[in-house]
Amino acid sequence: MALRNIRTEGDPILSKISKPILEMNDKTKTLIEDMLETMYHANGVGLAAVQVGVLKRLVVIDVSEDGDNPIILINPEIIDKEGTQTGEEGCLSVPGKSGTVTRANHVKVKAFNKNMELFELEGDELLARAIQHEVDHLDGILYTSKVEGEIKTSSD
Ligand code: NI
Repeated sequence: MALRNIRTEGDPILSKISKPILEMNDKTKTLIEDMLETMYHANGVGLAAVQVGVLKRLVVIDVSEDGDNPIILINPEIIDKEGTQTGEEGCLSVPGKSGTVTRANHVKVKAFNKNMELFELEGDELLARAIQHEVDHLDGILYTSKVEGEIKTSSD
């Protein structure tokens, strides 16, 4: 496994649309492992492949306290949304910044796992927010385009 370089705001790749993954292979397996390592190393709760420069519809998420519950979503598609939540959001591609974004409070997502088996996952609150944020990355959308009010700079 290896850390990958995280692309940051201003890099044109972040506004591109990622392409579906048609089959699992060793290259994509390594990419998944590297993305997890990169996300945990950066203390993030989610990372999309485009953020490490690969235009594939693949995201990894872990919203657990201990960072021991990785979720891998391949070709994710949000098939249901309910309610709203308004809260602070950040992104590893926009370091040191945060902003207020309103998202659905509950989502149901359909995706393939790393064995290319279709599954469904439902999530609330932080998990729902992470899923929506990461799926946006696959369509070239950064949360900064959805911020209400000003984008804040972290005080540290
Ligand atoms: Ni992000």
